[in-house]
Amino acid sequence: MKKPDNPFILNTYHGKAYFCDREEDLIRLEEHIRNGRNIVLYAWRRLGKSALVHRFFEELESSGDYETVYVDFLGAISMDDAVNELAKAIFERFGKTKTGLHATIQKMISSIGATVGFDPISGTPTLNIGVNSSPKEEQSLHALGEFLNERKKKIVVAIDEFQQVSTYNESNAEAIFRAWTQKFPSIRFIFSGSHRGMMTEMFLEKNRPFYHSAQLLSLNPIPAEKYIPFIQGHFQAKKKSISEEIIHSIIHWARGQTYTIQLICNYLYSQCQEVKLTDVERVKADILGQQQAIFANFPKMLTKTQWKVFQAIAKEEPLQNPLSKDFINKYRLGATSSVSTAIKSLQKQELVVVDDDIYLVHEVLLARWMARL
Ligand SMILES: Nc1ncnc2c1ncn2[C@@H]1O[C@H](COP(=O)(O)OP(=O)(O)OP(=O)(O)O)[C@@H](O)[C@H]1O
Ligand SMILES: [Mg+2]
Repeated sequence: MKKPDNPFILNTYHGKAYFCDREEDLIRLEEHIRNGRNIVLYAWRRLGKSALVHRFFEELESSGDYETVYVDFLGAISMDDAVNELAKAIFERFGKTKTGLHATIQKMISSIGATVGFDPISGTPTLNIGVNSSPKEEQSLHALGEFLNERKKKIVVAIDEFQQVSTYNESNAEAIFRAWTQKFPSIRFIFSGSHRGMMTEMFLEKNRPFYHSAQLLSLNPIPAEKYIPFIQGHFQAKKKSISEEIIHSIIHWARGQTYTIQLICNYLYSQCQEVKLTDVERVKADILGQQQAIFANFPKMLTKTQWKVFQAIAKEEPLQNPLSKDFINKYRLGATSSVSTAIKSLQKQELVVVDDDIYLVHEVLLARWMARL
């Protein structure tokens, strides 16, 4: 990978040098995988689930014992899409050899009804799915599983944004995936997703196919004592400086959310030699200003009461009791019952979350923007 100009990475993973800590999580992940346990990786948004999976996979691959496949279901809105994404990820990982396609991958490709073409510019092989009539999803999944099963090394498949499966029209989508994972017991799976509620429900509700089928691993914010030396180290390497006190204030404002911390540090690194508090204030205002167009859509997406309650929660952070008279009167929210209904709806969408008995606007930047309104 090329060395980035700015060491504070904003898009998933760019190698170990730009990845802070997570040592204990890596140990836990490895423990589970080496002992044959599947994993559900869950956390609040943008804490670094996907980046951690990439980091972990780099480690597994370099150990020489494992081959890994990472697939993202974010854009997969049907069972068909999901199977295609999986096929593409497997093809990307194993099909791009210089020596031509191996017989086993050719077999897999034809059994899912796909063909291989060549990119006219780069000359690399590409997978064309759905050209021929495709078999049923179960059959395709089976063919993909068989292919992975026949690899000499152990296989770990990470499915990111896995909660998507629970939204498919096909009511048995979860059951199909569950049956698939059971059919190939030597393949290890990591299920991860950005909707924490949906993810945990899939694995914790008794009547759901994935009930108790994997070990839950929850990701917490990176501890300040790990983040401070990481940030200072990158500044110092460029003869720049940032104080411990300032970093603490950033972590606090970002509520420990990795993405927001990275974003602020990315700006400060590019703009400052010696970071001062006024620089941090300027950068925060700039960042919120840039998000304005997106955030301004929220009032349109919500009912009037929902929007008022939403805003009040942001302003009141940390809020313990949203149904208390003090809170409702202070922000003139109206009847307790309608506040309660609004909160339930906001929670269902994970716009509001409850963490350690505190009600929070989930998206940190949105919370900070609303608090300023
Ligand atoms: N350990 C880390 N050190 C440095 N940067 C990190 C680390 N983990 C994640 N990041 C950065 O934080 C941001 C969020 O990470 P990532 O996309 O992995 O989070 P996520 O939990 O998968 O988010 P989402 O909830 O949107 O799926 C990215 O910009 C990523 O580069
Ligand atoms: Mg992610």
